[in-house]
Amino acid sequence: LLALSCAPQGDDLAQPMGWDEEVRLETPTDLEPDPRVIEIELVARETELALVGAGATRMWSYGGTVPGPRIDARVGDRLIVHFRNELPEPTTIHWHGVRVPNEMDGAPDHPSPPIAPGETFDYDFELPDEGLFWFHPHHRSAAQVAAGLYGTIVVRADDEPEMDELVLVLSDVAIDDDDGQLLEPDVGGTLATLFGREGNHVLANGRERPTIRARNGVPLRLRMVNAAISRYFQLAIEGHRFTVIGGDAGLSPRGPHEVARPVIMPGQRVDAIVVPRGRDGETLTMRWVPYDRGYGSTEFRDEVDVLAIELVGAPENVAIPEIPARQVEALSTAGATRFDVDLTQRTVDGQLVMGFDGVPHWEATPVAAHVGETQVWTFRNTMDWSHPIHLHGFFFQALDAHGNVVPEWIDTIDVPVDGEASFVVRYDDRPGMWMVHCHILDHADAGMMGMIDLS
Ligand code: C2O
Ligand code: CU
Repeated sequence: LLALSCAPQGDDLAQPMGWDEEVRLETPTDLEPDPRVIEIELVARETELALVGAGATRMWSYGGTVPGPRIDARVGDRLIVHFRNELPEPTTIHWHGVRVPNEMDGAPDHPSPPIAPGETFDYDFELPDEGLFWFHPHHRSAAQVAAGLYGTIVVRADDEPEMDELVLVLSDVAIDDDDGQLLEPDVGGTLATLFGREGNHVLANGRERPTIRARNGVPLRLRMVNAAISRYFQLAIEGHRFTVIGGDAGLSPRGPHEVARPVIMPGQRVDAIVVPRGRDGETLTMRWVPYDRGYGSTEFRDEVDVLAIELVGAPENVAIPEIPARQVEALSTAGATRFDVDLTQRTVDGQLVMGFDGVPHWEATPVAAHVGETQVWTFRNTMDWSHPIHLHGFFFQALDAHGNVVPEWIDTIDVPVDGEASFVVRYDDRPGMWMVHCHILDHADAGMMGMIDLS
């Protein structure tokens, strides 16, 4: 089992297992000896990578790898990131899901302008919550994320189960297979923007169908984030089921529950256990299965192999360990301010514009909110495609079909084709300008974004 134990992650963090060189995520050097402070340097720059096929692809990366680094932390740690922009255009870093102070959120001009080429910015904040988080640019997001700018933060609680674990960054990349280079961000025009561009190569930790070795019959925890700009990941392993134990905000208060095919929206995280089982040396395949997010999403698409899992040893019979329970109270919607939003598309002077109630973000008036206020947002889909709506800065709780609050913290909610979705949020602290937008980044860039002005 040598292959499994090659992951020294420093200090006393649980030892991630179940992965090997092919899917290794770089961990950055911590410049600060204080164990509760992580201080790192991070550079965004152009990077040539042998991503798919033989040739080198010019990508943009954090620190020279795609995905960028994986930052390992514990709840309550302070994270300091000395960031330098060596890209040819401005950028920012948004810490998706982390409840940061507003000025650390990476929303351009709220309050800081984007970081110009050659400039630096120091991000400095606490990591108050457990879970898998990720970071990505928030300026020309569709193009910059598609070019390879994304990384992860694993924030561990003290009582997490000890088990084999793999952090899996799911994404895709759009490459011209003739010259091996990235396709232009606007390839396919308006129709592609409406659908949301999906890359033609599916990546797991930056590789196409990498192989991991897993212990036969031993539970393996897959901590997954969908960093693709548009693609929904619906995953399947033949003859296997996934035991979902968590999501955007760490372990789930719902407790472990089995699903055949977990679905992960762009931006979302799913924490699930599989017990890979088969013959000694057999290889299982985790596949991407077309998911119906609107016209064209299942009609013209085939299944794709995402990850090969090579079984090591004769099958053991190891039970899934006890998963610590989390308690989350349902927010009350009594007295909440209500907002009903139509998610729309229209054409203005031949240009496709998406928005909330027909208004693109560059023309939108921010919604006013006050610290302590509770709001209920309902999004109605008027388009032919689903929208994963993400709120910055705050976790929220979904309302089910009967209007009951689901007591689980999430930061992204699916608004299905021809359907609607509602969530309740309470702004407990941290005034400032917070964004709410579709995480199909082509949609966000086309205008589908609003702002909440919290005072
Ligand atoms: Cu990951 Cu504004 O989003
Ligand atoms: Cu959308």
